[in-house]
Amino acid sequence: LNEKPEAVLGLATGSTPLGLYAELARLCAAGELSFAKCTTFNLDEYIGLDGTHDQSYRYFMNKNLFEKVDVRMEATHVPSGAVKSDEEAEQYDAQIKAAGGIDLQLLGIGNNGHIGFNEPADTFVYGCHIVNLTQSTIQANRRFFDSEDDVPRQAISLGIGSIMNARRILLLATGADKAEAIRNAVYGDINPRTQASILRTHSNVIFLLDKAAAGLL
Ligand code: F6R
Repeated sequence: LNEKPEAVLGLATGSTPLGLYAELARLCAAGELSFAKCTTFNLDEYIGLDGTHDQSYRYFMNKNLFEKVDVRMEATHVPSGAVKSDEEAEQYDAQIKAAGGIDLQLLGIGNNGHIGFNEPADTFVYGCHIVNLTQSTIQANRRFFDSEDDVPRQAISLGIGSIMNARRILLLATGADKAEAIRNAVYGDINPRTQASILRTHSNVIFLLDKAAAGLL
């Protein structure tokens, strides 16, 4: 942001970036950083939750970053949980393109190597699309909702192509739970069973790991 105030940032939710977002908020409050000219695009959202739901990713971003920094709310984008088709979902890719493309994409990684909601599969999906959540993801998310029936069954996610189009990618991972996914992403075959493995073909990517997440390298 200091180098390029009008940067287009690709942002992630989850527990991994929380420390980063707190630090960015601190730097912003201290006057060392400004989000005033930037544009942001988040990776994903649950289908069926609107931005006021406390488990929506829009709500997460508002609470953990956007309300704590000087970003213009109208310059923040989270995919819509109201989309009904992949054609509608792809309009989000068009919005990113119209904004000039993502300069820096921030990523976390799932225990199974997923990035965004791109779960292990037989293929890589290029564009923004609707994803059917796996039973294990539904179970994992159960704790945030009143009952399992309340857990969304679908999400909208940037595709692998949308992520790979970013000029720079920064993947963060912490904790031993991520060590196997990181090993598979860094040393395993480039294969959609570990979606993050494709990142090795990007020309400007950094994996920033703590010792535990790097434990199997
Ligand atoms: C979040 C996202 C996910 C998370 C991943 C890791 O927008 O797209 O891929 O980055 O599930 O989640 P945490 O950080 O909670 O371990």
